[in-house]
Amino acid sequence: MRSAVYFLAPALFAAVNALPFANGAGCYQPVVTTYVTKSDSSTTQAPTTTYLPPPGTTSLIPTKNSTSTSLPHSSSTILPTPSASCRPPSWTRDGDAPSTGTLRAGIVFVDFADSPANTTVKELYDFIAMAPAELYKEMSYGKLNLELVPMLDHFTRMPGMSTSYNYSRGLSNEAHVHYINDALTTVGPSVSFKGIDVLYVIPAKYADEISTSTATKIDITAADGTIIGNTITYGQDLYNVWGTKTVNHETGHAMGLPDLYPYVGGTTPQWVGGFDLMGLIGGISPDYLAWHKWYLGWIEDNQVECVADAGKTTHRISPIEVAGTNSKLVAVPLNSTVYVLAEVRSNQGINKGACGVGVLLYTADTTVYGGSGPIRVIDSTPSSGGCDINKGGELNDAPLAVNKSWDTGLGVVFKVTAEESGDYILEVDRRM
Ligand SMILES: *[C@@H]1O[C@H](CO)[C@@H](O)[C@H](O)[C@H]1NC(C)=O
Ligand SMILES: *[C@@H]1O[C@H](CO)[C@@H](O)[C@H](O)[C@H]1NC(C)=O
Ligand SMILES: *[C@@H]1O[C@H](CO)[C@@H](O)[C@H](O)[C@H]1NC(C)=O
Ligand SMILES: *[C@@H]1O[C@H](CO)[C@@H](O)[C@H](O)[C@H]1NC(C)=O
Ligand SMILES: *[C@@H]1O[C@H](CO)[C@@H](O)[C@H](O)[C@H]1NC(C)=O
Repeated sequence: MRSAVYFLAPALFAAVNALPFANGAGCYQPVVTTYVTKSDSSTTQAPTTTYLPPPGTTSLIPTKNSTSTSLPHSSSTILPTPSASCRPPSWTRDGDAPSTGTLRAGIVFVDFADSPANTTVKELYDFIAMAPAELYKEMSYGKLNLELVPMLDHFTRMPGMSTSYNYSRGLSNEAHVHYINDALTTVGPSVSFKGIDVLYVIPAKYADEISTSTATKIDITAADGTIIGNTITYGQDLYNVWGTKTVNHETGHAMGLPDLYPYVGGTTPQWVGGFDLMGLIGGISPDYLAWHKWYLGWIEDNQVECVADAGKTTHRISPIEVAGTNSKLVAVPLNSTVYVLAEVRSNQGINKGACGVGVLLYTADTTVYGGSGPIRVIDSTPSSGGCDINKGGELNDAPLAVNKSWDTGLGVVFKVTAEESGDYILEVDRRM
């Protein structure tokens, strides 16, 4: 029997390059990324781990407010050739779990002497077995198959009491790794983790100390010697607060997506409302944004219409909820890291509850860390009150409607000229 080295020295933590969407050029301090779900939509929870905001993080809050702007009629409208050249150079997906094909999640169910399981493993497995995989199948247009693999058919008893892990009291990276290593130690070397892309550690129901769900990209070595690059430790929020969409949120991190809610201050939906479950898990229009689907390979480069040059262009964009090869995103790169984006949100499929439909405008900045607002929705109906305060509120009616135009204040003006069979026709006036 080999003796496995489980513990990762703290000094190594900083060597883990785990910044999703970051400029890979190394101009920023390396940061270990640990993500934490919030327990509800109104309170904020500070990150429980080292969090270093990048220097010079810019805010891209749109300044102009011009629903009434009317664009000069263009006689030289052209349909641009979709182009892959628009893809952000920092998108390497290094260290990410696969987002197309099969993503194999190995599950270890754990319980504690002070919180022994009083359900079967099967009950918990059945709870998460279907919905997250089906959601991903729909969101990815059938490109991602999430396969859940229970590593054992029983709970493994953690060596420490549930209270000993400091889990609900603010998890440091060291404490998190300690928890994960304890789970892997109890599984032992006879179980092979070969071929597992992401580890899920799922606690017994009612183990209340294990509170929120957290993803980490610290490399951890299982007892059989397999190095696991992505681990998610679930908390009671899986059962009590967000339900199975927690799996889709946390696994989004494993695939490289950032948190879209603020880690410090503010409210959960302040930047993206109920759009994209990487912001608010219980949001009204939870499908990942087209920007994320592009990153994940669910939208191809040739479905992204790139507006790289100044001038007026016209685009026909089909709703994000609908599968097919039509264009899904207009991307206006201001430079290699900051983009102005437009996609179409309908109220079909998993977004059936959406109250605002039309062209959703937003900015994305690949140098802004998760929790600091890497994506910010542009509200074409500011101060409207939006809809459903518990599912995203003010921004939920942000999309631009037919016959409306919007000046982003960033040198890009959009006008929605028509809806045709569900697709939206969008004029883009790039002024610089
Ligand atoms: C934006 O427009 C709304 C509606 O016309 C108006 O109430 C609001 O004051 C404007 N905001 C700014 C910053 O101009
Ligand atoms: C399991 O434990 C919880 C918390 O103590 C309790 O509320 C629940 O009724 C128990 N369930 C069963 C089936 O014993
Ligand atoms: C929990 O916190 C206590 C007090 O800060 C500390 O002594 C202990 O080492 C921590 N345990 C873990 C597993 O991190
Ligand atoms: C990219 O554009 C944004 C918005 O204009 C600006 O704030 C940022 O500094 C630019 N970044 C670079 C690297 O030029
Ligand atoms: C948009 O404007 C056109 C031309 O004025 C009009 O025919 C059409 O009904 C308008 N559509 C909507 C949805 O307002």
